[in-house]
Amino acid sequence: MQLLRRNRILRQSPAIRAMVAETIITPADFIAPLFITEGENVREEIPSMLNYYRMSIDLTVKEVKELWQMGIRSVLLFIKCKDELKDNKGTEALNPDGLMQRSIRAIKNACPDMLIMTDVALDPFSSYGHDGIVENGEIVNDATVEVLAAMSVSHAAAGADFVAPSDMMDGRILAIRQALEAEGYTKTGIMAYSAKYASCFYGPFRDALDSAPGFGDKKTYQMDYANRKEAVKEVLMDIEEGADIVMVKPAMAYLDIIREVKDNVDVPVSAYHVSGEYAMIKAAAKMGWLNEEKAILESLTSIKRAGADLIATYFAKDAVKLIS
Ligand code: PBG
Repeated sequence: MQLLRRNRILRQSPAIRAMVAETIITPADFIAPLFITEGENVREEIPSMLNYYRMSIDLTVKEVKELWQMGIRSVLLFIKCKDELKDNKGTEALNPDGLMQRSIRAIKNACPDMLIMTDVALDPFSSYGHDGIVENGEIVNDATVEVLAAMSVSHAAAGADFVAPSDMMDGRILAIRQALEAEGYTKTGIMAYSAKYASCFYGPFRDALDSAPGFGDKKTYQMDYANRKEAVKEVLMDIEEGADIVMVKPAMAYLDIIREVKDNVDVPVSAYHVSGEYAMIKAAAKMGWLNEEKAILESLTSIKRAGADLIATYFAKDAVKLIS
């Protein structure tokens, strides 16, 4: 054969492949989600998330220092609220001495440069396990948005760098931005879960926080997984309302959405590689059916290749070890 072009030339050795690789994941790409619980020296494995833990504030602070040492630059905080503090309006979410607010202060104090992102939604605080206030069996929008705005201000006051509304209520980004402005928090960013789908892949997360919806599902606020154009509408509206970063969630089953969003916006795009996606790899690896390390690197590289500038992933630490 006399070929003019031989594509295998650029694949023939690790050195060449490294030289021409289009996508490279680095520690600063990752956002490490952390689950925080009350108590001291508490470290509980989440049954459906092998090797991932709920930790008390003291151990969380240690973990954050370690993540910083490794090169990870942001953490995304979730708290497990005690049952007796849950109510329909998520009142505990606004407590200046609540678990979230104490966690933010402790982390800022111990590791001031680490970017702290906080989950803003009612579900961990809701007696119904929904992301909003429930009235007559419905999740009401506007009253919920008021709480989310106040919650965001409360996180900013405690020292959060970014608030991350994950609720999918209409108009919440504008309300949050206005509330932050009104209170003088002009440096607090908003990472909006803009294209968040009603997904079965959140199952293990709901185990972690004991936050599964008590009735029904989340389909009246989270997006229908059949839709793509709607994702573009959602992200563009959130950007207009003041989002600094937009997110697509989940990630692996939504790579087309990540790309579509990336091609349509001029703000950074993040993707959430969610609990169920983590659990699938962990479970298959445990069975000996997948090579875990390779699956982690391939998954995260694919998410970045699809267009994610940032990736929230429970594999953040593992990935950094694998690439360094
Ligand atoms: C709550 C929230 C969820 C996740 C992040 N924030 C669950 C849900 O919407 O039911 C899921 C994260 C994951 O599965 O890793 N608003």
